[in-house]
Amino acid sequence: MWIEEAKVFYDAESGFYWFDKDIPDFSDIRDDLVEEIRKYRFEKDLKFAYLNVTELCNAKCPYCYVPDEVKKRGRSFSRDELFEILGRLEGAGIEWVLFHGVEPLLEKELIFEAMDTFDFNYGIQTNGLLLEEEDMDFIMEKEANIGLSLDAPKRDVNDFLRGSGSFDAVCSAMEYMDDYEGLSIITTINRFNEALLPEMVDFLAGKVGTVLMNPVRGTSKGGRNLRAVNLAENFLEAVERAMELTAMGERIVIADYANILLGILAPSARVLQCDVSPCGAGRRFISITPDGVYPCGEFIGMAEFRSRLDEALSSKAFERVVGRKVEDIGECRDCSFRHLCGAPCPAEIYAETGKLNEKSPYCEFYKEVIIHAFRTIREGKEGLVLRLENLAEKHTIELR
Ligand SMILES: C[S@@+](CC[C@H](N)C(=O)[O-])C[C@H]1O[C@@H](n2cnc3c(N)ncnc32)[C@H](O)[C@@H]1O
Repeated sequence: MWIEEAKVFYDAESGFYWFDKDIPDFSDIRDDLVEEIRKYRFEKDLKFAYLNVTELCNAKCPYCYVPDEVKKRGRSFSRDELFEILGRLEGAGIEWVLFHGVEPLLEKELIFEAMDTFDFNYGIQTNGLLLEEEDMDFIMEKEANIGLSLDAPKRDVNDFLRGSGSFDAVCSAMEYMDDYEGLSIITTINRFNEALLPEMVDFLAGKVGTVLMNPVRGTSKGGRNLRAVNLAENFLEAVERAMELTAMGERIVIADYANILLGILAPSARVLQCDVSPCGAGRRFISITPDGVYPCGEFIGMAEFRSRLDEALSSKAFERVVGRKVEDIGECRDCSFRHLCGAPCPAEIYAETGKLNEKSPYCEFYKEVIIHAFRTIREGKEGLVLRLENLAEKHTIELR
């Protein structure tokens, strides 16, 4: 279909695009492209386990998707429980273990001992409040990924959102791990920091190479109350600023935008799984907590989506989430962008509406971002976001 706002012809099922109304015959390759996307969307291949060793947290972010009663209850895995789980994950072919949260570093001794014992690829997502130099030395020696949460380039705004001490802790960690490839930042976009996103890009450039700028999910009431009001405009300004800095030699990538571009250029090379339908929850990754296993951390506390580890690993669990696809959502069914946005996030939508098959509250935001992404490609600027040499094998990029 020709999409005037993006000045592109885009065939959603195959992902074929063309920036001219004079569209070539692509029928000889269409079946293969359609099959590639279909396989990528529906294959169940669990490779990532998010592991919450504790339900406790040392911060009180107002938008947090983990329910307060879970954090108050504050259960943790014992050493024996954790090691038993890791042994089972090893047997099940999981390749990545991501210590996530609530706050993983509250159990850092246990986590580091596990990392010394089991041979996975590792990641740790933390607010940084408990991160000490020797911890960072260990993480870098293990070549583990580390994500730090920082919401604003200004101490007062950041600490208002993420708690006192957060800004200084994350800044010291970025300085200490300067140039460490495995380091990235997560910024949760909300109404208090949205106007600061371009400034955030300036602030981070030269300190880290990748930042995830995620719109706050309305999974909790706190999240719903804090949704940004001018999201697309602020986000896209940050995107443009990141490309400008990259062009000047200070490479910084907003990973969410990179993933949308990848969805157009090489759909099956996408790493982030939120804008794929069905999303990666329960299909590419699971979330293991002291309370049971969930398809994704965003579902924590929703008992109807909880499962046991043996079921989760043997494909029996999470049918409702794994089966949620854009074809079953009224407005998405005929949308050209249905396989570029994926109507996220099921947990957010379920928490708000009690149903899974509803469109995303961020529908208009995704449309604007996707149109912008086509513009980036039309202008030949995708190399300011993606490392194109890594995509040489992938299909659509060859067709332009
Ligand atoms: C839940 S925290 C757990 C790990 C660790 N405590 C941290 O702060 O990074 C992981 C990330 O999720 C983000 N987050 C929390 N609630 C969210 C929500 N409702 N929507 C989007 N992101 C959220 C946080 O800002 C943080 O960057």
